[in-house]
Amino acid sequence: MRALVTGAAGFIGSHLVDQLLAAGAHVVGVDCFTDYYARELKDANLAAARRHDKFTLIESRLQAADLDNLLRDTTHVFHLAAQAGVRKSWGLDFPVYTAANIEATQVLLEACARTELRKLVFASSSSVYGAVSETPMRETHRPQPVSPYGVSKLAAEHLCYLYWVAHRVPTVSLRYFTVYGPRQRPDMAFNRFLRAMIAGSPVTLYGDGEQTRDFTFVGDAVSAAIAAADRGKPGSVYNIGGGAQVSVNRVLEVMAACTGTRSRVERHPAQKGDVRDTHADTTEARRALGFAPATSLEAGIDAEHQWISSVVTPV
Ligand code: UGA
Repeated sequence: MRALVTGAAGFIGSHLVDQLLAAGAHVVGVDCFTDYYARELKDANLAAARRHDKFTLIESRLQAADLDNLLRDTTHVFHLAAQAGVRKSWGLDFPVYTAANIEATQVLLEACARTELRKLVFASSSSVYGAVSETPMRETHRPQPVSPYGVSKLAAEHLCYLYWVAHRVPTVSLRYFTVYGPRQRPDMAFNRFLRAMIAGSPVTLYGDGEQTRDFTFVGDAVSAAIAAADRGKPGSVYNIGGGAQVSVNRVLEVMAACTGTRSRVERHPAQKGDVRDTHADTTEARRALGFAPATSLEAGIDAEHQWISSVVTPV
């Protein structure tokens, strides 16, 4: 495999790069190191990969990269570059989301249409569903995002499907459900909670804490991407959920046991754009990709706690 990984320095992207290199692939990573969070964290994510002789890093926005050249010998593309974050996607920030999530995807797909690829795997999101009336969420449900971020991811998914239908770019979209684990972005709940607990500061809780997520460990998310590159049916969408559908309050209990600390909880109103509950029906991913999440919530939280304790990230 000769892989192109966009968003290679990010949370899921950097784990994917490590896994592909371990499996013997040649990997070109593209990342523009947006200022959404500290560059030091992204450099640390890629530290091992950069010592590998089969890895090349291109620092560029997709819109500015020489994609025809980068794709010349590429067999598989993993498109993870994005502006992430549900709660920040309102108001004046929206153009950042349209540029990074929609326009960059279109530019990449245009370039892919000019080459022969075996597969393009796109990292979509559970936030495309929004507030569905029926759970578990199925790929056949009508998506109705409740955040501008979700709208931008859904638009990118539609572009992927369109380029399959119109240009035979063999795209597969994975709807990831709240991924966590080592290298998790510092704006995400698990990372913020664990850092607060380690620092002895209060934990910020949005809403009553009874909202639920189908939390997915990053190792399982990466296995799904590699399986999709191999076996995903072009034009398809698959839910990738870890199966640990629990409330935020339950997460705080598991973290208290894991860290041996109990932080004061500072309550804030529920945030605009947050879905109340997510719950993935993973029947399709299990059937078509052999997806079988392997990491329990307790083991995954423990792994993220160990990682956070090893990097100094002030709250
Ligand atoms: C996450 C990612 O941030 C998105 O990029 C991704 O696309 C999305 O998952 C997805 O699955 O589609 P989110 O579910 O909001 O979004 O993930 P977290 O930041 O881990 O938040 C989980 C829950 O904890 C939310 O209900 C949030 O309101 C809450 N939270 C978050 C807090 O109570 N306190 C915090 O400090 C942060």
